[in-house]
Amino acid sequence: MATDKTFYLETFGCQMNAHDSEKVIGTLRQQGYRQVESEEDAGLILYNTCSIRDKAEQKVFHRLNDYKKLHKEGKRFGVLGCVAQQEGEKIFERAPFVSLVSGSASYRKLPEMLTRLEAGESHITGLDDRQTDETFETEFTARQNPYRGYITIIEGCDKFCSYCVVPYTRGKERSRASSSVLKEARRIADLGYTEIQLLGQNVNSYRDPEGKCSFAELLAAVGEAPGIRRVRFMTSHPRDFTRDIVEAIDRVPALCDHIHLPVQSGSARVLGRMAREYTPEWYLERIGWIKATRRKISISTDIIVGFPGESAQDFIQTMDLLAEVEYDCVFAFKYSARPNTPALSMVDTVPEAEKTTRLQALLERQREIQRINYSKQIGEIVEVMVEGVNPARGQIAGRSSQNKPVNFVWTQPIAPAPGSYVRVKITGAYPNSLLGQAV
Ligand code: 5AD
Ligand code: SF4
Repeated sequence: MATDKTFYLETFGCQMNAHDSEKVIGTLRQQGYRQVESEEDAGLILYNTCSIRDKAEQKVFHRLNDYKKLHKEGKRFGVLGCVAQQEGEKIFERAPFVSLVSGSASYRKLPEMLTRLEAGESHITGLDDRQTDETFETEFTARQNPYRGYITIIEGCDKFCSYCVVPYTRGKERSRASSSVLKEARRIADLGYTEIQLLGQNVNSYRDPEGKCSFAELLAAVGEAPGIRRVRFMTSHPRDFTRDIVEAIDRVPALCDHIHLPVQSGSARVLGRMAREYTPEWYLERIGWIKATRRKISISTDIIVGFPGESAQDFIQTMDLLAEVEYDCVFAFKYSARPNTPALSMVDTVPEAEKTTRLQALLERQREIQRINYSKQIGEIVEVMVEGVNPARGQIAGRSSQNKPVNFVWTQPIAPAPGSYVRVKITGAYPNSLLGQAV
């Protein structure tokens, strides 16, 4: 094997995976590895994988296939994350050149697994069946964004929605002690981070093992950490969404005015079959709380179209719900059958072409809703955190507290640095971004 301790790591999937990768990078560095930018330059090639939908999973196997020739040059391959946990040792059959397969609950054992890899072992697995380990943070988390720090507050999921693979890949729900979360928040604030994003499959299902605070109280406490200007959280489950979360956002200025509340469907019948444990009415009641606040809170969601048995009428109910909530952002997906999940055995599938038609109709409708929503902001002044500069367009790019991309012109000789906050007057709007001028 290549003895130079270099690694290439590519991450697929969600924010949780991106943050897990920060932990993996930190651990590898601690073990004397150096990160490189391409597969060709690396002794160890790692993919941190996602299996939430079929497409995400296929991407990983395509990538492995594209680069398997490098194995002949002595390079080693590792598959991490959700596909690793889901497929386990079957990966060695499908891609025999892979030496390491590890799910996220086993990353603590990475140093030991790396030692075995270096010793020449070829089929190393880290597949914690119980998945109860808490890999919340390592001391050496290599944070990739200098302004936004991610903090895992809860791992796994016990909800078992009938379509979802997460409870099987990320295991049982376990929360991190609030004192540990707050310590981490203060530590990264001291390092100069001004934005914190609290992460979890269902952050609002958080239950403090120390019994000191609720999720809303934790959120508020993080928002009150000195130096922290923005706090976000992803993702929330409507079932556990409580009113005090909304009240905390209204009260604590650092909590961003954005809530991501996945609805999945507007049909009570489909929600029942999805085992979501709420009705559209229950969901809309929570939307009502969010809309009744003093601050204008932006709302986004996830939707699945073409769930088994979704009728044209069910789909119309989802379209109606979109119009009623007037979301600022929607992530919509075609239903994808996943291994081990209860929905796999539901036979009344929606044809692929019909799923495509529904997805397009939904996205089109949503685009129109966003066009109207965003244009209502023209004339407002919003605070933007600068993310970068686009010299070609002479514009600065950033994000508002509501999580909307804002591009703005800047007339001073020195452009604001990434990570700084600028007040911007909104002068134009598109369905997915705002345009403005620094004031
Ligand atoms: N098929 C399609 N979409 C899915 N999601 C989760 N599982 C599936 C699936 N099997 C979507 C849900 C979830 C988001 C992260 O991914 O909308 O909220
Ligand atoms: Fe999957 Fe449902 Fe858990 Fe979300 S709440 S991770 S959709 S099982």
